[in-house]
Amino acid sequence: MDKWKQKHILGIKDLSRAEIELILSQAKSFKEISRRDVKKVPALRGKTVLNLFFENSTRTRMSFELAAKRLSADVINFSSSISSLSKGESVVDTVKTLDAYHPDIMVVRIDSSGCLYKFDEYTQASIVNAGDGQNEHPTQALLDMFTVQQVKGTLEGLKVLIVGDIRHSRVARSNIFGFSKFSSKVTVCGPATFIPYEFEKIGVDVSCDLDAVIAEADVIIMLRIQKERQSSSFFPTIREYVDKFSLTPQRLAKTKKNCMVLHPGPVNWDIEISSSLKEKVHPLILKQVENGLAIRMAVLYLVGTKKR
Ligand code: CP
Repeated sequence: MDKWKQKHILGIKDLSRAEIELILSQAKSFKEISRRDVKKVPALRGKTVLNLFFENSTRTRMSFELAAKRLSADVINFSSSISSLSKGESVVDTVKTLDAYHPDIMVVRIDSSGCLYKFDEYTQASIVNAGDGQNEHPTQALLDMFTVQQVKGTLEGLKVLIVGDIRHSRVARSNIFGFSKFSSKVTVCGPATFIPYEFEKIGVDVSCDLDAVIAEADVIIMLRIQKERQSSSFFPTIREYVDKFSLTPQRLAKTKKNCMVLHPGPVNWDIEISSSLKEKVHPLILKQVENGLAIRMAVLYLVGTKKR
């Protein structure tokens, strides 16, 4: 595939395998720009990127901003906490207002699942999903897949184990859609209350016993416990959760020799992963962060240079 056709990137569900491959290949060629003395290319000169974050973020927000700057776009960052939302302006009016500046791309993080599919009623800009509620986080899955491809050399035929709070995780959903398009087998594992029924229907294996499935995995994605999206009825005690689902040195010892451990961040050390494993697992998690910049450059470039 040599030509990008999508105006928006709203979810991995909507992308073909060829489109994912094109993004990963573009990211590979952009990655070295960040290691140059002069970390800038003119690829998006004259374009305007608006980062609209209605939810908090460190990695996604910073890397989209940096990605746009490295491609020479003009960037404006919107944070809900210092915006006119605090005066009662609605999200829709905010988007319509910002559309009046004629942005080319709006990067949006928002707490409402699936709402970005309606945003093109309010703006002419391309929409890039930076995480919408519990629905999708497409650039996180793309950077996870890019990291796996760089280390393993392939995305085909892998056993991918996603552990933790599957119910609330847009990262889980996007990775399931992504890895499944490359014939990799995804297993989700967590407390039964954290795994919605529909996950079995979308072709993943389900387990509530980490010790029974960990030895099979080529890639383990440990998810963050999303305290901000929890209702107490779903959540076991932290102690019970750590006992059954935390990655500990004993559990890591059961994994395959070249098993990769990923985490989207931020990590709750000693909950999802034992802090005694920090030296072992943090370098790869930081590699994910580095790869996130290349992926977001690729996404902005492909969407921003698509012929309108
Ligand atoms: N992984 C992720 O989305 O992190 P941030 O919330 O810091 O962007």
